[in-house]
Amino acid sequence: MTITMDAPVRHEPVLLHETLAALAVRPGGRYVDCTVDGGGHAEAILDAASPGGALVGIDADPEALALARHRLSRFGDAVALVEGNFRDVDAICRERGFTPVNGVLFDLGLSSHQLASATRGFSFRVEAPLDMRFGPGPGRAASYWVNEASESELADLIWRFGEDRRSRRIARAIVRSRPLATTTQLAKAVEQAVGRRPGSQSHPATKTFQALRIAVNQELTNLAEALPRAHGLLGFGSRLVVISYHSLEDRIVKQYFARESRDCVCPPAQPVCTCGHTATLRPVTRGALTPSEAEVAVNPRSRSAKLRAAERLAA
Ligand SMILES: C[S@@+](CC[C@H](N)C(=O)[O-])C[C@H]1O[C@@H](n2cnc3c(N)ncnc32)[C@H](O)[C@@H]1O
Repeated sequence: MTITMDAPVRHEPVLLHETLAALAVRPGGRYVDCTVDGGGHAEAILDAASPGGALVGIDADPEALALARHRLSRFGDAVALVEGNFRDVDAICRERGFTPVNGVLFDLGLSSHQLASATRGFSFRVEAPLDMRFGPGPGRAASYWVNEASESELADLIWRFGEDRRSRRIARAIVRSRPLATTTQLAKAVEQAVGRRPGSQSHPATKTFQALRIAVNQELTNLAEALPRAHGLLGFGSRLVVISYHSLEDRIVKQYFARESRDCVCPPAQPVCTCGHTATLRPVTRGALTPSEAEVAVNPRSRSAKLRAAERLAA
């Protein structure tokens, strides 16, 4: 992946006030932003944690970290920015002696600058090579799935990660159109295969692009592995906050919080508890928080956001 600085597009932090409240940010507190990107949430957290607060910000994308470094420079040593995968959040914090912490934030998905980039290939609206990797790691780019995977692998991916019922038709059309080099070629192949739904606002390739991005970045596995590791960093009374943007992610968070808020996780039909599991989290939001109409009006990207938060209980 070539890292180039595209013309800056400002990413507006989603559910900002709700996030600060859910994290219960306080002066002197220590926080981890697992998806720091350009530092929108991180800047507000550091302001609210001043004086004496500190933050470790992680992102897989070096280009995003360059923006964060610039935006957060006024906080000096109170910030450490780390290029890495958030599934390693525990190792990243422990190496820096940054435990326990008062709060961990995940603001999942991708940022406005990634979406607008002419080199990253996240959007069907912007002509770009089919990459879609968040960072320059060793993983396969989207072009592998589009041009080399079997038709059934591709259909399975679009079904599982895009929840698109037309997955087989789309996969067949992609395979017949090979080789596909760019986002717009892919979007056109999908549109020609399934057409536009009358009255539908969304492009017919939206779910295919989502599915490819999730597969390329192993987003669901990373989240499922990261949650318990982030949980393990929390001191008693500290908060874990996750903002997700589609139902597959939200389900993982919801199920994790539900399980860790129960004293017993034995199958319901089992008469006696044998699991020995104890609750170590308490949800602090009733269900998921969603953006107000006013926020969606100024930042349409926020419309699918769901925020869930939980507090670490004493053992
Ligand atoms: C929605 S943006 C975060 C925006 C940020 N909260 C702000 O307000 O500026 C999501 C970021 O998460 C990063 N990301 C996604 N998955 C990641 C992972 N597994 N490890 C590290 N960073 C990841 C992306 O590169 C992107 O920069």
